[in-house]
Amino acid sequence: MQIPSTVLTLPEAASTPIGAEVYRGLTDMPKHLSPWLFYDERGSQLFEAITRLPEYYLTRTEHGIFARNADEILEYAGCLPLTIVELGAGTAEKTGLLLQAAVRRQSRVDYVPIDVSETALDAAKQHLEAEIPGVRVAARVADYTQGIAEIPSPGRRRMVLYIGSSIGNFEPADGVRVLREVRRRLVPGDLLLLGVDHVKDAPTLLRAYDDEAGVTAEFNKNMLTRINRELGANFNTRLFRHRAKWNAEQSRIEIYLDSVIAQRVSIPALDLEVKFARGEAIHTESSYKFTPESIGAIIERAGFAVTQSWTDERDWFGVYLAASR
Ligand code: AVI
Repeated sequence: MQIPSTVLTLPEAASTPIGAEVYRGLTDMPKHLSPWLFYDERGSQLFEAITRLPEYYLTRTEHGIFARNADEILEYAGCLPLTIVELGAGTAEKTGLLLQAAVRRQSRVDYVPIDVSETALDAAKQHLEAEIPGVRVAARVADYTQGIAEIPSPGRRRMVLYIGSSIGNFEPADGVRVLREVRRRLVPGDLLLLGVDHVKDAPTLLRAYDDEAGVTAEFNKNMLTRINRELGANFNTRLFRHRAKWNAEQSRIEIYLDSVIAQRVSIPALDLEVKFARGEAIHTESSYKFTPESIGAIIERAGFAVTQSWTDERDWFGVYLAASR
């Protein structure tokens, strides 16, 4: 005798990227949501605000490294001319320093910023072409997976920038996969320039992810507001608390949204009701911190060889130049 099978059909919204992510993450134990959900329009603005916070040293420190070493970075990059490609470029604030140095060496430079935000890319093109004569911007709108496929094919040597500690938001094995994908698009001798946050004392790290003004808390909770808007959920953001934790064993900052009370949240588009116990957490992001050895191993496993690296006077942040093998 055949046992009739029950076919469980999920609502259509569960097959959209956001629906699938929210369904998977909030029905899992422990609960989690992926950090790409941060970056709707409001989230991108809040991230920009984070980069200017006194506690968030990352952007400022990397900027300082470029300000001091842009010419040397270009010298180490070797023979010219070089096309500069940037993954997740945003408004390309720091990249201007490298482009200026490139123009000093080769008088003209092609710059290919790749980002999900067309608005950010328009702003980048406008300010770079106006401020740095000699730069030609050919922007591509794509997320990081499609973005890698947008890396222009050979003709000139290419230097691919993946800066701003973006690689730190991947699990290390996924980080290797992302860099391998980049490597597949390159030919031997092309370059990777990677900016990563270094391991440092826990209080400094925790302050950077739990600032006094509460901007990071708002950034974190914006994920719930986005789910309310896009999936019709009824999260009350006041009933969740932002928390940052330093996980020394895994060498990463983790951020969470903790449920302040026992509660139920409904997500009509997913036909889902999610139960939270008092204090139960949703893990929303990991931000890995590296030593020169740990990031060196990732770069090598992805098929690159580290040529040179630069840091700041406190050794808080590192910029690594690597050649494709
Ligand atoms: C985008 N990324 C490198 C940031 C970081 O530091 O991991 C995202 C962020 N999350 C909280 N503050 C900033």
